[in-house]
Amino acid sequence: MAAAEEILTRTLEKASNIIDGVTCGAGMPYKLSEIAARFGIYYYPIVSSARAFNALWKRSYRKTADYLGGVVYEDPWLAGGHNGLSNSENPLKPQPPYPRVRELRKLMNEFDLSNTPIIMAGGVWNLEEWEDWIDNPEIGKIAFQFGTRPLLTEESPIPDEWKKKLLNIKKGDVSLHRFSPTGFYSSAVKNDFLIELEERSKRQTPFLKEQTNEFNEKIEIGPRKRAFYVKHSDKSKIMEWIKKGFSKPMTTPNDTLIWVTIKKASQIVKDQIDCMGCLSQCLFSNWAQGEKGTTGKKADPRSFCIQKTLQKISHGISNLENELMFAGHSVYRFALDPFYKGGFIPRVNQLVDRIMKGL
Ligand SMILES: Cc1cc2nc3c(=O)[nH]c(=O)nc-3n(C[C@H](O)[C@H](O)[C@H](O)COP(=O)(O)O)c2cc1C
Ligand code: SF4
Repeated sequence: MAAAEEILTRTLEKASNIIDGVTCGAGMPYKLSEIAARFGIYYYPIVSSARAFNALWKRSYRKTADYLGGVVYEDPWLAGGHNGLSNSENPLKPQPPYPRVRELRKLMNEFDLSNTPIIMAGGVWNLEEWEDWIDNPEIGKIAFQFGTRPLLTEESPIPDEWKKKLLNIKKGDVSLHRFSPTGFYSSAVKNDFLIELEERSKRQTPFLKEQTNEFNEKIEIGPRKRAFYVKHSDKSKIMEWIKKGFSKPMTTPNDTLIWVTIKKASQIVKDQIDCMGCLSQCLFSNWAQGEKGTTGKKADPRSFCIQKTLQKISHGISNLENELMFAGHSVYRFALDPFYKGGFIPRVNQLVDRIMKGL
């Protein structure tokens, strides 16, 4: 998020007397702790590994340990929205949360944080399934966070159409992908919106601006007939895409071309022009906060404007299928859990009662 530090500071200047603590997700500024401590309130960083906590602790949190209210462990393979998978972790090879949280606790104990709770987030559907985590010395003080289940409550502000869809999602329908303009992995329902992004990236070929033995097929693009050279083996694929209407190539920051329809290309360019700078740095438009106002890299047409699509889906402005639908990987359980039988949508207090029973 752009200007996160300033927004947090200004909010606390006016409202710290009614705020107990602040949390901050993926892309968290390490300054969260300094700002919270300055106002005498707790901070709850979200991390996805003991390693990440170690780095943050050494860099800044050790100086403000008294205000560390808890540490959220967000399972990067199960939680909804943006996830903190590191480069060394494989999105296709999920690791179970228990050993990772045990490692986090061990590290926290070394830092004299044995009284500080860990908050387990991601894939928690009911507490019955987590009984062995409670009163377990290897895990220590533990709380649980729910992200996906509260989406489906009467009070939840998402449109009714989205709530109905939640009741019908099947296992495997949520995809952990890397299209977000933030550069982070994120988890969302695999709908037309995500499928289009996947296909856009598949219609991709490398190119060079100079001819070589390998890149020996010339294609001319645009009214100025700019010359690009592609591999002979890619030429037939490109001709096939053009025949299907994907006749407009767009360059990416990785020296590749993606092939889209003319309509899609104009929409991509329009969305980039309409950028209102919601992120601290954006792969899609190349906007970055700071004096230069740019990441210095080429804008990436394989991504999308997250501000536009999240506004549209949360306000029910367009068809659900065509917008980014963030959800955790347990979302398919709405269709299986008898609590939601017949399309029942609980009120928040009913959901909390149910969770407190372990169900
Ligand atoms: C619709 C939705 C959007 C979310 N967006 C983000 C996000 O952008 N950044 C983040 O750190 N966590 C995000 N989360 C994760 C939640 O904060 C929470 O930790 C997680 O969903 C808990 O797992 P569960 O969904 O399996 O209950 C999101 C969750 C949902 C359901
Ligand atoms: S293009 Fe969209 S997502 Fe990217 S910074 Fe601009 S408003 Fe935000």
